[in-house]
Amino acid sequence: MEKQILTIEEMSTFCKRKGFVYPSSEIYGGLAGLYDYGHLGTLLKKNFEDMWREYFLSLDDNFFEIEASEIMHESTFVASGHLKNFVDLAAKCQKGHAERADHLLERKLKKKFEGLAAEELFEKIKENKIKCPVCGSDIEKVEVMNMMFPVYLGIGNVMKGYLRPETAQSPYVNFKRQLEAMRKKLPLGLALIGRAYRNEISPRNFILRQRAFTQSELQIFFNPNKIDEHDDFKSVEDYKLQVMFADERSAIHKISCGELSKKLPKFYVYHMAKVQQFYLDVLKFPSDKFRLYELNDKEKAFYNKYHFDMEADLDTIGWTEIGGIHYRTDHDLKGHQEVSKQSMEFLDEETKERFIPHVLELSFGVDRNFYSIINYAYNYDKSRENIVLKLNPKLAPIKLGVFPLVSNKKEIVDLAKKVHNDLKKCWGASFDTGGSIGRRYARMDEIGTPLCITVDFESLEDDSVTIRERDTTQQIRVEISQLKDVVKKFFKGERFNKLGKAVE
Ligand code: GAP
Repeated sequence: MEKQILTIEEMSTFCKRKGFVYPSSEIYGGLAGLYDYGHLGTLLKKNFEDMWREYFLSLDDNFFEIEASEIMHESTFVASGHLKNFVDLAAKCQKGHAERADHLLERKLKKKFEGLAAEELFEKIKENKIKCPVCGSDIEKVEVMNMMFPVYLGIGNVMKGYLRPETAQSPYVNFKRQLEAMRKKLPLGLALIGRAYRNEISPRNFILRQRAFTQSELQIFFNPNKIDEHDDFKSVEDYKLQVMFADERSAIHKISCGELSKKLPKFYVYHMAKVQQFYLDVLKFPSDKFRLYELNDKEKAFYNKYHFDMEADLDTIGWTEIGGIHYRTDHDLKGHQEVSKQSMEFLDEETKERFIPHVLELSFGVDRNFYSIINYAYNYDKSRENIVLKLNPKLAPIKLGVFPLVSNKKEIVDLAKKVHNDLKKCWGASFDTGGSIGRRYARMDEIGTPLCITVDFESLEDDSVTIRERDTTQQIRVEISQLKDVVKKFFKGERFNKLGKAVE
Protein backbone atom coordinates (compact mmCIF):
# COMPACT_ATOMS: atom_id res chain seq x y z
CA MET A 1 0.00 0.00 0.00
CA GLU A 2 1.32 3.43 -0.92
CA LYS A 3 0.84 6.64 0.97
CA GLN A 4 -0.30 8.99 -1.73
CA ILE A 5 0.88 12.58 -1.62
CA LEU A 6 -2.27 14.67 -1.76
CA THR A 7 -2.42 18.12 -3.24
CA ILE A 8 -5.12 20.50 -2.03
CA GLU A 9 -6.93 20.11 -5.37
CA GLU A 10 -6.89 16.30 -5.07
CA MET A 11 -8.14 16.56 -1.50
CA SER A 12 -11.03 18.83 -2.45
CA THR A 13 -11.91 16.66 -5.47
CA PHE A 14 -11.93 13.54 -3.29
CA CYS A 15 -14.01 15.20 -0.55
CA LYS A 16 -16.50 16.46 -3.12
CA ARG A 17 -16.76 13.17 -5.02
CA LYS A 18 -17.44 11.16 -1.89
CA GLY A 19 -19.77 13.81 -0.49
CA PHE A 20 -17.63 14.67 2.55
CA VAL A 21 -17.27 18.44 1.95
CA TYR A 22 -18.06 20.72 -1.01
CA PRO A 23 -18.68 24.40 -1.74
CA SER A 24 -21.69 25.94 -0.06
CA SER A 25 -24.52 27.15 -2.33
CA GLU A 26 -22.83 25.00 -4.98
CA ILE A 27 -25.76 25.08 -7.42
CA TYR A 28 -25.32 28.89 -7.61
CA GLY A 29 -21.59 28.68 -8.17
CA GLY A 30 -20.56 28.68 -4.51
CA LEU A 31 -19.32 31.46 -2.25
CA ALA A 32 -15.62 31.98 -1.54
CA GLY A 33 -14.56 30.54 1.80
CA LEU A 34 -17.83 28.77 2.60
CA TYR A 35 -18.25 24.98 2.58
CA ASP A 36 -20.93 22.44 3.48
CA TYR A 37 -20.37 19.04 5.05
CA GLY A 38 -22.33 16.16 3.53
CA HIS A 39 -23.47 13.06 5.40
CA LEU A 40 -20.09 11.30 5.60
CA GLY A 41 -18.25 14.53 6.36
CA THR A 42 -20.71 15.40 9.11
CA LEU A 43 -20.26 11.98 10.69
CA LEU A 44 -16.46 12.15 10.56
CA LYS A 45 -16.44 15.70 11.94
CA LYS A 46 -18.83 14.69 14.70
CA ASN A 47 -16.62 11.71 15.60
CA PHE A 48 -13.66 14.06 15.94
CA GLU A 49 -15.73 16.39 18.12
CA ASP A 50 -16.91 13.50 20.30
CA MET A 51 -13.33 12.28 20.80
CA TRP A 52 -12.23 15.82 21.62
CA ARG A 53 -15.11 16.24 24.08
CA GLU A 54 -14.53 12.90 25.77
CA TYR A 55 -10.79 13.54 26.16
CA PHE A 56 -10.66 17.18 27.21
CA LEU A 57 -13.72 17.22 29.46
CA SER A 58 -12.34 14.27 31.38
CA LEU A 59 -9.12 16.12 32.26
CA ASP A 60 -10.83 17.60 35.30
CA ASP A 61 -14.17 17.06 37.11
CA ASN A 62 -14.68 20.81 37.03
CA PHE A 63 -14.63 21.05 33.21
CA PHE A 64 -18.02 21.50 31.50
CA GLU A 65 -19.45 22.10 28.06
CA ILE A 66 -21.70 25.00 27.08
CA GLU A 67 -23.49 26.13 23.94
CA ALA A 68 -23.99 29.80 23.13
CA SER A 69 -25.29 32.27 20.58
CA GLU A 70 -23.09 32.91 17.56
CA ILE A 71 -24.29 36.52 17.37
CA MET A 72 -22.90 38.52 20.27
CA HIS A 73 -23.34 41.97 21.76
CA GLU A 74 -21.15 44.66 20.20
CA SER A 75 -19.68 45.47 23.63
CA THR A 76 -18.25 41.94 23.81
CA PHE A 77 -15.78 42.88 21.12
CA VAL A 78 -15.01 46.31 22.51
CA ALA A 79 -14.06 44.49 25.73
CA SER A 80 -12.10 41.71 24.05
CA GLY A 81 -10.21 44.13 21.80
CA HIS A 82 -11.37 42.47 18.58
CA LEU A 83 -12.99 45.60 17.15
CA LYS A 84 -9.68 47.38 17.45
CA ASN A 85 -7.11 44.64 16.99
CA PHE A 86 -8.63 41.78 15.03
CA VAL A 87 -7.27 42.93 11.71
CA ASP A 88 -5.40 41.59 8.74
CA LEU A 89 -3.28 43.57 6.34
CA ALA A 90 -4.61 43.61 2.81
CA ALA A 91 -2.38 44.28 -0.19
CA LYS A 92 -4.55 46.12 -2.74
CA CYS A 93 -3.78 46.50 -6.41
CA GLN A 94 -4.67 49.37 -8.76
CA LYS A 95 -7.79 47.51 -9.89
CA GLY A 96 -9.06 46.93 -6.36
CA HIS A 97 -8.17 43.22 -5.92
CA ALA A 98 -7.08 42.37 -2.39
CA GLU A 99 -4.90 39.62 -0.96
CA ARG A 100 -3.41 39.13 2.51
CA ALA A 101 -0.09 40.94 2.32
CA ASP A 102 1.85 38.37 4.33
CA HIS A 103 0.46 35.50 2.21
CA LEU A 104 1.47 37.28 -0.97
CA LEU A 105 5.05 37.50 0.27
CA GLU A 106 4.98 33.99 1.71
CA ARG A 107 3.96 32.47 -1.62
CA LYS A 108 6.67 34.27 -3.53
CA LEU A 109 9.53 34.03 -1.04
CA LYS A 110 8.61 30.71 0.65
CA LYS A 111 8.95 31.92 4.23
CA LYS A 112 6.67 33.30 6.93
CA PHE A 113 5.94 37.03 7.20
CA GLU A 114 3.53 37.15 10.15
CA GLY A 115 3.79 40.03 12.58
CA LEU A 116 5.15 42.71 10.24
CA ALA A 117 3.58 46.20 10.16
CA ALA A 118 1.74 47.49 7.06
CA GLU A 119 4.63 49.71 5.96
CA GLU A 120 7.18 46.90 6.34
CA LEU A 121 5.03 44.54 4.27
CA PHE A 122 4.49 47.16 1.57
CA GLU A 123 8.25 47.83 1.38
CA LYS A 124 8.98 44.12 0.99
CA ILE A 125 6.32 43.74 -1.72
CA LYS A 126 7.84 46.62 -3.68
CA GLU A 127 11.39 45.40 -3.07
CA ASN A 128 10.52 41.98 -4.48
CA LYS A 129 8.45 43.42 -7.36
CA ILE A 130 5.40 41.36 -6.41
CA LYS A 131 2.33 41.98 -8.54
CA CYS A 132 -1.37 41.33 -8.03
CA PRO A 133 -1.96 37.55 -8.36
CA VAL A 134 -5.35 38.17 -10.02
CA CYS A 135 -4.60 40.78 -12.70
CA GLY A 136 -0.82 41.25 -12.61
CA SER A 137 -1.01 45.00 -11.91
CA ASP A 138 1.09 46.79 -9.27
CA ILE A 139 0.26 46.62 -5.59
CA GLU A 140 -0.71 50.15 -4.58
CA LYS A 141 -0.99 49.94 -0.82
CA VAL A 142 -1.19 47.70 2.22
CA GLU A 143 -4.28 48.47 4.28
CA VAL A 144 -5.62 47.44 7.69
CA MET A 145 -8.89 45.49 7.44
CA ASN A 146 -11.07 44.36 10.36
CA MET A 147 -12.21 40.76 10.01
CA MET A 148 -15.46 40.94 11.98
CA PHE A 149 -18.90 40.39 10.45
CA PRO A 150 -21.44 42.93 11.77
CA VAL A 151 -25.08 41.81 12.04
CA TYR A 152 -28.10 44.15 12.31
CA LEU A 153 -30.87 42.86 14.54
CA GLY A 154 -34.52 43.73 14.01
CA ILE A 155 -35.98 46.58 12.01
CA GLY A 156 -36.29 50.30 12.67
CA ASN A 157 -34.07 51.29 15.54
CA VAL A 158 -31.70 48.44 14.85
CA MET A 159 -29.24 46.96 17.28
CA LYS A 160 -25.82 46.03 16.02
CA GLY A 161 -24.26 42.72 16.96
CA TYR A 162 -21.35 40.71 15.59
CA LEU A 163 -20.87 37.13 14.55
CA ARG A 164 -18.26 35.82 16.96
CA PRO A 165 -14.80 35.50 15.34
CA GLU A 166 -13.78 32.88 17.94
CA THR A 167 -15.91 30.69 20.20
CA ALA A 168 -13.78 31.83 23.15
CA GLN A 169 -15.75 35.00 23.86
CA SER A 170 -18.88 32.95 24.65
CA PRO A 171 -17.36 31.22 27.71
CA TYR A 172 -15.92 34.56 28.84
CA VAL A 173 -19.30 36.29 28.89
CA ASN A 174 -20.78 33.15 30.49
CA PHE A 175 -18.05 32.86 33.12
CA LYS A 176 -19.78 34.73 35.95
CA ARG A 177 -23.05 32.81 35.56
CA GLN A 178 -21.36 29.42 35.20
CA LEU A 179 -19.10 29.96 38.19
CA GLU A 180 -22.22 30.66 40.28
CA ALA A 181 -24.14 27.72 38.84
CA MET A 182 -21.39 25.13 39.11
CA ARG A 183 -19.13 24.41 42.05
CA LYS A 184 -17.59 27.85 42.55
CA LYS A 185 -14.08 26.51 42.38
CA LEU A 186 -11.05 26.89 40.17
CA PRO A 187 -9.74 25.71 37.82
CA LEU A 188 -13.05 25.90 36.00
CA GLY A 189 -13.12 24.69 32.41
CA LEU A 190 -15.74 25.83 29.91
CA ALA A 191 -15.62 24.02 26.58
CA LEU A 192 -17.51 24.99 23.48
CA ILE A 193 -17.69 23.42 20.05
CA GLY A 194 -19.25 25.79 17.57
CA ARG A 195 -19.03 28.07 14.59
CA ALA A 196 -16.80 31.13 14.26
CA TYR A 197 -16.91 33.73 11.48
CA ARG A 198 -14.13 35.80 9.97
CA ASN A 199 -14.20 38.00 6.91
CA GLU A 200 -10.93 36.58 5.60
CA ILE A 201 -9.39 38.74 2.87
CA SER A 202 -8.37 35.76 0.83
CA PRO A 203 -10.00 32.50 1.86
CA ARG A 204 -8.02 29.67 0.29
CA ASN A 205 -6.66 26.17 0.58
CA PHE A 206 -10.06 24.47 0.57
CA ILE A 207 -11.37 24.19 4.16
CA LEU A 208 -8.11 25.38 5.75
CA ARG A 209 -9.00 29.07 5.50
CA GLN A 210 -12.73 29.71 5.46
CA ARG A 211 -15.05 32.56 6.37
CA ALA A 212 -17.25 30.32 8.52
CA PHE A 213 -15.65 27.40 10.35
CA THR A 214 -15.88 25.27 13.48
CA GLN A 215 -13.70 25.56 16.55
CA SER A 216 -13.50 23.33 19.61
CA GLU A 217 -12.09 25.41 22.40
CA LEU A 218 -11.58 24.84 26.10
CA GLN A 219 -11.19 27.90 28.32
CA ILE A 220 -9.56 27.05 31.64
CA PHE A 221 -10.05 29.74 34.29
CA PHE A 222 -7.43 29.44 37.02
CA ASN A 223 -5.72 31.19 39.92
CA PRO A 224 -2.68 33.04 38.48
CA ASN A 225 -0.81 32.47 41.75
CA LYS A 226 -1.00 28.73 41.02
CA ILE A 227 0.32 28.91 37.46
CA ASP A 228 3.44 27.04 38.42
CA GLU A 229 1.66 23.97 39.71
CA HIS A 230 -0.65 21.21 38.55
CA ASP A 231 -1.86 18.32 40.74
CA ASP A 232 -1.08 15.82 38.01
CA PHE A 233 2.22 17.27 36.76
CA LYS A 234 4.24 14.25 38.01
CA SER A 235 2.46 12.04 35.46
CA VAL A 236 3.91 14.06 32.55
CA GLU A 237 7.25 15.08 34.05
CA ASP A 238 9.28 12.68 31.87
CA TYR A 239 7.00 12.90 28.86
CA LYS A 240 8.81 14.33 25.83
CA LEU A 241 7.23 17.18 23.91
CA GLN A 242 8.01 17.86 20.25
CA VAL A 243 8.70 21.57 20.20
CA MET A 244 10.06 24.15 17.80
CA PHE A 245 11.19 27.20 19.78
CA ALA A 246 10.86 30.79 18.57
CA ASP A 247 14.60 31.41 18.93
CA GLU A 248 15.60 28.24 17.09
CA ARG A 249 13.53 27.57 14.03
CA SER A 250 15.96 25.06 12.54
CA ALA A 251 15.00 21.98 14.55
CA ILE A 252 12.24 20.24 16.47
CA HIS A 253 13.40 19.55 20.02
CA LYS A 254 12.26 16.58 22.04
CA ILE A 255 12.15 18.06 25.50
CA SER A 256 10.69 16.58 28.68
CA CYS A 257 7.93 18.46 30.47
CA GLY A 258 10.17 18.58 33.55
CA GLU A 259 12.91 20.31 31.55
CA LEU A 260 10.53 22.70 29.81
CA SER A 261 8.95 23.68 33.11
CA LYS A 262 12.23 25.47 33.96
CA LYS A 263 11.26 27.98 31.22
CA LEU A 264 7.46 27.89 31.22
CA PRO A 265 4.88 27.52 34.03
CA LYS A 266 3.89 23.95 34.95
CA PHE A 267 0.19 24.61 34.43
CA TYR A 268 0.95 25.57 30.83
CA VAL A 269 3.41 22.74 30.17
CA TYR A 270 1.01 20.14 31.61
CA HIS A 271 -1.62 21.11 29.06
CA MET A 272 0.93 21.09 26.23
CA ALA A 273 1.51 17.43 27.13
CA LYS A 274 -2.21 16.68 27.21
CA VAL A 275 -2.67 18.27 23.79
CA GLN A 276 0.23 16.33 22.26
CA GLN A 277 -1.04 13.08 23.81
CA PHE A 278 -4.46 13.75 22.28
CA TYR A 279 -2.86 13.93 18.83
CA LEU A 280 -0.40 11.08 19.14
CA ASP A 281 -2.22 8.59 21.41
CA VAL A 282 -5.90 9.28 20.81
CA LEU A 283 -6.17 10.50 17.20
CA LYS A 284 -2.99 8.60 16.33
CA PHE A 285 -1.42 11.22 14.08
CA PRO A 286 2.00 10.08 12.75
CA SER A 287 4.44 11.27 15.39
CA ASP A 288 6.82 12.94 12.90
CA LYS A 289 3.96 15.01 11.49
CA PHE A 290 3.13 16.86 14.71
CA ARG A 291 4.90 19.66 16.55
CA LEU A 292 4.27 22.49 18.99
CA TYR A 293 5.47 25.71 17.41
CA GLU A 294 6.33 28.68 19.61
CA LEU A 295 5.34 32.12 18.32
CA ASN A 296 7.57 35.10 19.00
CA ASP A 297 6.35 38.44 20.35
CA LYS A 298 5.59 39.81 16.88
CA GLU A 299 3.69 36.70 15.79
CA LYS A 300 1.62 36.07 18.93
CA ALA A 301 -2.09 36.88 18.94
CA PHE A 302 -2.72 40.26 20.61
CA TYR A 303 -4.25 38.63 23.71
CA ASN A 304 -1.54 36.04 24.41
CA LYS A 305 1.39 35.97 26.81
CA TYR A 306 2.52 32.44 25.87
CA HIS A 307 1.51 31.04 22.52
CA PHE A 308 2.41 27.70 20.94
CA ASP A 309 0.54 26.53 17.87
CA MET A 310 -0.20 22.89 17.26
CA GLU A 311 1.06 22.18 13.78
CA ALA A 312 0.55 19.28 11.40
CA ASP A 313 2.83 18.57 8.46
CA LEU A 314 0.40 18.29 5.54
CA ASP A 315 1.17 16.94 2.08
CA THR A 316 2.44 19.61 -0.32
CA ILE A 317 1.48 22.48 2.06
CA GLY A 318 3.91 21.59 4.83
CA TRP A 319 3.58 22.61 8.48
CA THR A 320 0.13 24.08 9.09
CA GLU A 321 -1.44 25.54 12.21
CA ILE A 322 -4.35 23.38 13.38
CA GLY A 323 -4.76 24.82 16.87
CA GLY A 324 -3.10 26.77 19.63
CA ILE A 325 -2.27 26.71 23.33
CA HIS A 326 -2.87 30.26 24.52
CA TYR A 327 -2.12 31.81 27.88
CA ARG A 328 -4.50 34.80 27.64
CA THR A 329 -3.83 36.07 31.19
CA ASP A 330 -6.78 38.16 32.51
CA HIS A 331 -6.94 40.04 29.21
CA ASP A 332 -10.52 39.00 28.40
CA LEU A 333 -12.18 38.88 31.82
CA LYS A 334 -10.61 42.20 32.79
CA GLY A 335 -11.90 43.74 29.55
CA HIS A 336 -15.40 42.37 30.17
CA GLN A 337 -15.33 43.64 33.76
CA GLU A 338 -14.39 47.12 32.59
CA VAL A 339 -16.97 47.34 29.82
CA SER A 340 -19.90 45.52 31.48
CA LYS A 341 -19.20 46.98 34.97
CA GLN A 342 -19.84 43.52 36.39
CA SER A 343 -17.26 42.01 38.68
CA MET A 344 -15.38 39.05 37.25
CA GLU A 345 -13.49 38.54 40.50
CA PHE A 346 -13.22 35.22 42.24
CA LEU A 347 -13.08 34.94 46.02
CA ASP A 348 -11.16 31.94 47.29
CA GLU A 349 -13.12 30.95 50.43
CA GLU A 350 -10.12 29.20 51.97
CA THR A 351 -7.34 31.71 51.44
CA LYS A 352 -9.60 34.78 51.17
CA GLU A 353 -7.66 35.79 48.04
CA ARG A 354 -9.67 37.91 45.60
CA PHE A 355 -8.57 38.11 41.96
CA ILE A 356 -9.68 38.03 38.35
CA PRO A 357 -8.97 34.49 37.12
CA HIS A 358 -6.50 34.00 34.30
CA VAL A 359 -7.30 31.90 31.26
CA LEU A 360 -5.45 29.11 29.54
CA GLU A 361 -7.11 28.38 26.22
CA LEU A 362 -6.79 25.13 24.27
CA SER A 363 -8.04 26.09 20.83
CA PHE A 364 -8.63 23.71 17.91
CA GLY A 365 -9.78 24.37 14.36
CA VAL A 366 -12.11 21.45 13.68
CA ASP A 367 -12.00 21.82 9.88
CA ARG A 368 -8.20 21.90 9.82
CA ASN A 369 -8.14 18.80 12.02
CA PHE A 370 -10.64 17.17 9.68
CA TYR A 371 -8.35 17.95 6.73
CA SER A 372 -5.31 16.53 8.55
CA ILE A 373 -7.17 13.35 9.48
CA ILE A 374 -8.11 12.64 5.85
CA ASN A 375 -4.63 13.64 4.66
CA TYR A 376 -2.92 11.04 6.88
CA ALA A 377 -5.51 8.33 6.24
CA TYR A 378 -5.46 8.63 2.43
CA ASN A 379 -3.63 5.75 0.73
CA TYR A 380 -3.62 4.31 -2.72
CA ASP A 381 -3.49 0.51 -2.89
CA LYS A 382 -1.95 -0.55 -6.19
CA SER A 383 -3.08 -4.16 -5.94
CA ARG A 384 -6.65 -3.11 -5.12
CA GLU A 385 -6.40 -0.23 -7.66
CA ASN A 386 -8.35 1.75 -5.15
CA ILE A 387 -8.11 4.44 -2.53
CA VAL A 388 -8.12 3.10 1.01
CA LEU A 389 -8.91 5.64 3.72
CA LYS A 390 -7.09 4.18 6.71
CA LEU A 391 -9.02 6.11 9.32
CA ASN A 392 -8.70 5.42 13.00
CA PRO A 393 -11.83 3.20 13.46
CA LYS A 394 -13.21 5.62 16.05
CA LEU A 395 -13.22 8.40 13.44
CA ALA A 396 -14.63 6.33 10.57
CA PRO A 397 -18.01 7.74 9.49
CA ILE A 398 -19.43 4.29 8.74
CA LYS A 399 -18.19 1.51 11.01
CA LEU A 400 -19.53 -1.56 9.19
CA GLY A 401 -20.52 -2.61 5.68
CA VAL A 402 -22.96 -5.52 5.48
CA PHE A 403 -23.49 -7.35 2.20
CA PRO A 404 -25.26 -10.41 0.86
CA LEU A 405 -22.69 -12.19 -1.38
CA VAL A 406 -25.28 -12.35 -4.15
CA SER A 407 -28.42 -10.29 -4.54
CA ASN A 408 -30.54 -12.85 -6.36
CA LYS A 409 -30.90 -15.41 -3.59
CA LYS A 410 -33.67 -14.28 -1.26
CA GLU A 411 -32.56 -16.32 1.79
CA ILE A 412 -29.08 -14.76 1.65
CA VAL A 413 -30.42 -11.22 1.20
CA ASP A 414 -32.94 -11.72 4.04
CA LEU A 415 -30.28 -13.04 6.40
CA ALA A 416 -27.94 -10.16 5.48
CA LYS A 417 -30.76 -7.66 6.16
CA LYS A 418 -31.38 -9.29 9.54
CA VAL A 419 -27.67 -9.06 10.42
CA HIS A 420 -27.60 -5.42 9.27
CA ASN A 421 -30.70 -4.48 11.28
CA ASP A 422 -29.22 -6.02 14.36
CA LEU A 423 -25.81 -4.36 14.01
CA LYS A 424 -27.08 -0.89 13.06
CA LYS A 425 -28.64 -0.55 16.51
CA CYS A 426 -25.08 -0.34 17.86
CA TRP A 427 -22.91 1.03 15.04
CA GLY A 428 -23.36 3.07 11.87
CA ALA A 429 -23.70 0.24 9.32
CA SER A 430 -24.24 0.43 5.59
CA PHE A 431 -26.16 -2.24 3.64
CA ASP A 432 -25.09 -2.65 0.02
CA THR A 433 -26.25 -5.03 -2.69
CA GLY A 434 -25.01 -3.11 -5.75
CA GLY A 435 -22.33 -4.60 -8.01
CA SER A 436 -19.70 -7.26 -7.40
CA ILE A 437 -18.51 -7.96 -3.89
CA GLY A 438 -15.13 -6.48 -4.91
CA ARG A 439 -16.77 -3.17 -5.91
CA ARG A 440 -18.66 -3.08 -2.65
CA TYR A 441 -15.46 -3.64 -0.64
CA ALA A 442 -13.79 -0.91 -2.70
CA ARG A 443 -16.57 1.58 -1.97
CA MET A 444 -16.26 0.92 1.74
CA ASP A 445 -12.42 1.14 1.64
CA GLU A 446 -12.65 4.53 0.01
CA ILE A 447 -14.72 6.03 2.80
CA GLY A 448 -12.69 4.29 5.50
CA THR A 449 -15.15 1.66 6.75
CA PRO A 450 -13.02 -0.58 8.98
CA LEU A 451 -14.97 -3.86 8.69
CA CYS A 452 -17.17 -5.48 6.04
CA ILE A 453 -19.42 -8.43 6.81
CA THR A 454 -20.56 -10.79 4.07
CA VAL A 455 -23.41 -13.28 4.27
CA ASP A 456 -22.85 -16.12 1.80
CA PHE A 457 -24.18 -19.57 0.86
CA GLU A 458 -22.36 -21.16 3.79
CA SER A 459 -24.05 -18.76 6.19
CA LEU A 460 -27.36 -20.50 5.47
CA GLU A 461 -25.78 -23.78 6.63
CA ASP A 462 -23.60 -22.77 9.55
CA ASP A 463 -25.02 -19.44 10.81
CA SER A 464 -21.69 -17.73 10.39
CA VAL A 465 -20.40 -14.83 8.28
CA THR A 466 -17.12 -13.55 6.88
CA ILE A 467 -15.61 -10.36 8.26
CA ARG A 468 -13.00 -8.53 6.22
CA GLU A 469 -10.65 -5.94 7.66
CA ARG A 470 -10.09 -2.79 5.59
CA ASP A 471 -6.34 -2.31 6.09
CA THR A 472 -5.08 -5.87 5.65
CA THR A 473 -7.99 -7.38 3.67
CA GLN A 474 -7.63 -10.36 6.05
CA GLN A 475 -10.84 -12.31 6.54
CA ILE A 476 -12.15 -14.27 9.48
CA ARG A 477 -15.20 -16.47 9.93
CA VAL A 478 -17.44 -15.69 12.90
CA GLU A 479 -20.74 -17.10 14.17
CA ILE A 480 -23.62 -14.64 13.82
CA SER A 481 -24.42 -15.06 17.52
CA GLN A 482 -20.85 -13.86 18.32
CA LEU A 483 -20.82 -10.99 15.81
CA LYS A 484 -21.61 -8.08 18.14
CA ASP A 485 -19.08 -9.27 20.67
CA VAL A 486 -16.36 -9.62 18.01
CA VAL A 487 -17.05 -6.18 16.52
CA LYS A 488 -17.02 -4.64 20.00
CA LYS A 489 -13.63 -6.23 20.73
CA PHE A 490 -12.23 -4.98 17.41
CA PHE A 491 -13.28 -1.41 18.16
CA LYS A 492 -11.72 -1.73 21.60
CA GLY A 493 -8.42 -2.42 19.84
CA GLU A 494 -8.08 -6.23 19.94
CA ARG A 495 -6.11 -7.78 17.06
CA PHE A 496 -8.43 -8.64 14.19
CA ASN A 497 -6.94 -12.01 13.30
CA LYS A 498 -7.33 -13.23 16.90
CA LEU A 499 -11.07 -12.66 16.81
CA GLY A 500 -12.17 -15.55 14.57
CA LYS A 501 -11.12 -18.42 12.33
CA ALA A 502 -8.90 -17.23 9.47
CA VAL A 503 -10.40 -17.65 6.01
CA GLU A 504 -7.79 -18.98 3.53
N1 GAP B 1 -9.75 31.50 20.38
C1 GAP B 1 -8.47 31.56 19.83
C2 GAP B 1 -8.47 31.58 18.38
O1 GAP B 1 -9.48 31.73 17.74
P1 GAP B 1 -6.93 31.36 16.32
O2 GAP B 1 -5.50 30.96 16.22
O3 GAP B 1 -7.35 32.61 15.67
O4 GAP B 1 -7.24 31.41 17.87
C3 GAP B 1 -7.82 28.92 16.39
O5 GAP B 1 -7.86 30.20 15.80
C4 GAP B 1 -7.84 27.86 15.33
O6 GAP B 1 -8.99 28.02 14.50
C5 GAP B 1 -6.66 27.92 14.37
O7 GAP B 1 -5.53 27.26 14.91
C6 GAP B 1 -7.21 27.20 13.16
O8 GAP B 1 -7.11 25.81 13.33
C7 GAP B 1 -8.68 27.59 13.19
N2 GAP B 1 -8.93 28.67 12.23
C8 GAP B 1 -8.64 29.97 12.38
N3 GAP B 1 -9.02 30.68 11.29
C9 GAP B 1 -9.57 29.79 10.43
C10 GAP B 1 -10.16 29.90 9.13
N4 GAP B 1 -10.28 31.07 8.51
N5 GAP B 1 -10.62 28.77 8.54
C11 GAP B 1 -10.52 27.58 9.16
N6 GAP B 1 -9.98 27.42 10.39
C12 GAP B 1 -9.51 28.50 11.02
